[in-house]
Amino acid sequence: MSLTKDERETFDRANLIKLAIENQKNSYAPYSNFNVSAAVLMASGKIYLGVNVENASYPCGICAERNAIFHAVQEGEREIVAIAIVGGPNYTIKEYCAPCGVCRQVMREFCDPQKMKVIIAKAVDDYKEMTLEKLLPESFGPEALK
Ligand code: THU
Repeated sequence: MSLTKDERETFDRANLIKLAIENQKNSYAPYSNFNVSAAVLMASGKIYLGVNVENASYPCGICAERNAIFHAVQEGEREIVAIAIVGGPNYTIKEYCAPCGVCRQVMREFCDPQKMKVIIAKAVDDYKEMTLEKLLPESFGPEALK
């Protein structure tokens, strides 16, 4: 089972954002105190969650977006439809939290950048939506190595 072309456009944004917001409590960020959460909708219709997980050895930490995407890939998923991202200091969400460059490149591996939606949210009814193409133009992807 996978989402239809139509469903990839009309999916429930508020639900994806709500899941990301509810999941922020699981962020482990005792060093930066910046708590990020992501909910990624895959082509199957399933949603996977991720938070940032920091480490006393700072470079060992990982962003929320990559945690969510890697979880999905581990479950056999290969195509991202959309990702909702929330984040802020001390488990708050006051500003839009844009994905870092490394996470943008990881998203690029598993989507059509002209179609995939990145949603950065402050609340279920306060968000910005853009394609990955807008956030990562002229990108390098898997087809370059075929
Ligand atoms: N972080 C994310 O998880 N995602 C982003 O898009 C931006 C940054 C995390 C990494 C680190 O744990 C903390 O936020 C501060 O950079």
